[in-house]
Amino acid sequence: MTMASASGKVILFGEHAVVYGRPAIAVPVAELRAWATVDDAPPGAGCTVVAIDLKRRFSLADAPPDDPLALIVRLTLAGLGLVAEPDWTITLRSDIPIASGLGSGAAVSTAIVRALAQHAGRSLPPDAVSALVYETERLHHGTPSGIDNTVVAYEQPVYFVRGQPPQPCRVGGEFWLAIADTGVASPTKLAVEDVRRAWQADPARYEALFDEMGRIAERARQAIETGRLDALGPLMDENQRLLSAIGVSSPLLERLCAAARQAGAGGAKLSGAGHGGNLIALVTPQTAEKVAAALRAAGAVRVVISQVVR
Ligand code: PMV
Repeated sequence: MTMASASGKVILFGEHAVVYGRPAIAVPVAELRAWATVDDAPPGAGCTVVAIDLKRRFSLADAPPDDPLALIVRLTLAGLGLVAEPDWTITLRSDIPIASGLGSGAAVSTAIVRALAQHAGRSLPPDAVSALVYETERLHHGTPSGIDNTVVAYEQPVYFVRGQPPQPCRVGGEFWLAIADTGVASPTKLAVEDVRRAWQADPARYEALFDEMGRIAERARQAIETGRLDALGPLMDENQRLLSAIGVSSPLLERLCAAARQAGAGGAKLSGAGHGGNLIALVTPQTAEKVAAALRAAGAVRVVISQVVR
């Protein structure tokens, strides 16, 4: 039996603008993970995928081409040079809520790639894992920037510009995030399509807003790398104001951000596609519990405290 896992992720700065070529920063969330195990099956059994949380079990040979789980298994087997389908059972489990901006699709796919490679006695470098996972992100997202597969496959903070090799974002001083789930599922594809329509209707306004988001991501990178964490909170608030201006916030997200700030968070913003999903608030070990309680009282269904390490 072989087991591998992959972390969830949050986007700290620059979601949506990153689709339009501006920089963004994302970090892994080690506390939230997806796991894949691979067991040998009897000869002739072929590949079976068991997705425990989705209550699905299917054989690879019967799955349609656009099934994201089947796609990543097929792509990985081909990438490993396994032309004949092996007799393997692949079992999946995940802590990461689906369609909530935490990278659940990328994490499940990454865990699958890692487990299959290990079971075949191979190890794939992060860029190869990321390239395979990107193909399944296209099914989930339509036109993904590539930030999710990158941060999850490298499992380290990244400064990301679409189409360019990812750059590590060094963390000069550790910090903590309260990650709060609105409980509202929000498929990334729909939010990205909404923004695209709005951008097409008023390109000049949207390009200017994306430019501002890009400048914030640049300033945030400097603040993170030099450990000037007091600058980060205000930059998060500013990014949230811009996300609201492009129409991807919601009354619940605004209420939760306000509750976090009032309880002592340094700043707060939605993370990922928006409309629902998760938000992040900058906390310290001293403020974390108070902020988490305020978020729950304001309607968050789950709050995870995550440390962003050096
Ligand atoms: O997968 P999510 O919900 O974290 O959103 C991804 C971030 C977007 O910028 C909205 C889309 C993309 O492809 O980068």
